[in-house]
Amino acid sequence: MDVKLSKKPAGQIDADLIAIPVANGSELKGAVAELPAAVRKRLAERVKQARFEAKAGSTLSLQTDTGDVVLVGVGDGKAEESWRRAAGKARAAAGGIRARKVAVCLGATKAAAEHLGPVVEGFTLADYSFEKYRSKKPNKYRGPRTLVVASPAIAAGAAGRALVAQTTAVSDAVCMARDLVNEMSSVKTPSYLVSTARRIAREAGLGCTIWQGKRLEKEKMRGILAVSAGSIHGGALIKLVYKPKRKPKSRIAVVGKGITFDSGGLSLKPPKAMETMKLDMAGAAAVLGLMRALPACAPQVEVHGYIATAENMPGGRAQKPGDVITFRNGTSAEVLNTDAEGRLVLADALCVAAESKPDAIIDLATLTGACMVALGSRVAGVMGNDERLVGDLIARGRDTGERLWELPLVEDYMDDIRSTTADIKNIGGSYAGTITAALFLRCFVGERKWAHIDIAGPAFAEKPLPYAPRGGTGFGIRTLLAYLSSLG
Ligand code: BES
Ligand code: MN
Ligand code: ZN
Repeated sequence: MDVKLSKKPAGQIDADLIAIPVANGSELKGAVAELPAAVRKRLAERVKQARFEAKAGSTLSLQTDTGDVVLVGVGDGKAEESWRRAAGKARAAAGGIRARKVAVCLGATKAAAEHLGPVVEGFTLADYSFEKYRSKKPNKYRGPRTLVVASPAIAAGAAGRALVAQTTAVSDAVCMARDLVNEMSSVKTPSYLVSTARRIAREAGLGCTIWQGKRLEKEKMRGILAVSAGSIHGGALIKLVYKPKRKPKSRIAVVGKGITFDSGGLSLKPPKAMETMKLDMAGAAAVLGLMRALPACAPQVEVHGYIATAENMPGGRAQKPGDVITFRNGTSAEVLNTDAEGRLVLADALCVAAESKPDAIIDLATLTGACMVALGSRVAGVMGNDERLVGDLIARGRDTGERLWELPLVEDYMDDIRSTTADIKNIGGSYAGTITAALFLRCFVGERKWAHIDIAGPAFAEKPLPYAPRGGTGFGIRTLLAYLSSLG
């Protein structure tokens, strides 16, 4: 889909669908006022008849001789997120009438330029679908070919074009991450993630190092090896590096959990719980998407992206409950439940990340079902050892519409993961499973500032969201990009 900018007022735009975001109390002002008088009159009647109040998420459509018009409510219009969601509604309306060319008209107010980014983001993210495994495509309509964002207030010059280019690059990266999560596990093995990382590195000009096979043993990647042992597919540690053009203001490590399928291992999951376990590499997908989008966003920060990938299967060589792993940093852990595998592979990657002494480490992982019990499917849990880092991530998540909520790293709960055989064990008691998992991870970050984001809920949508269909969401990429951009 092409995204274009135009300075034309709504009345002069030629499109199959004209979408006009409206704030409450201003139904017939803004871009609506730019429409031809006859259209405006009919709209006024419809607004009255339907009691349209421009609440966030509400829509009102009208057919005219020159194409359809849809009003999309943004509530008070203060939150960027309401503009993203309104753009998502516009994309849905386009689908309803199979529109090829869609214009979103922002009106002549100065604030219009501020909404350009969220509108392009919401529209392009809502344009995503995963059709690879359908024999009959639902219909021949492949979505709009062109999106025009129109406002007399928008710089059609370099600044506007640069923002559109950056926003579409971010959306492309999010959609790539969605594709990876939606792909089936029998295709996306750990070595598939390795080739994907290599391709991204080549295309985006990133550094790339892969540890596989014997190298994993040499480097003491004992968590990845233990989890992979029950699978015919070997695991890997992937490292990608982004270096800014100018001297970096800081160095940040980002770590993703890449379990390409989580059967639970010998602590086998019941069938229902396994249905969506192709999602268990969503942290890795987010790191890949982030790394791919970095050159377009160009923050003045060096970013090291790590992915610990393995398939968790109950094969004949599988690790067994009661086995002990001694990790690269010397910490030993008793594996009492092979389904708590994420923390085992992440421990390896965190050790390696900490060794290069970055200014902060941020990990993303579909780590615990308990996090969904606590926060549901729309909010990620965040924990860490640095108040400022955690606070900044929450704030950037608020901007991007990716909600993060802090859970406390209660020191006393360390008792829950102490082992009588080894230093620690990989499961806690019946409660606070998200926190005990994070406390386990903390044993591997040394003295580094660190934040852990448990994305078990928001990584995968069981039902469609305002700008994502059912399936992988690409959660985390936009928040991390916003965070890195805020550093330099
Ligand atoms: N990948 C799962 C967590 C998960 C569950 C993610 C549901 C998304 C949706 C993780 O590896 C796991 O199995 N965790 C166990 C931990 C337990 C054994 C301590 C869990 O949550 O039950
Ligand atoms: Mn598991
Ligand atoms: Zn898992």
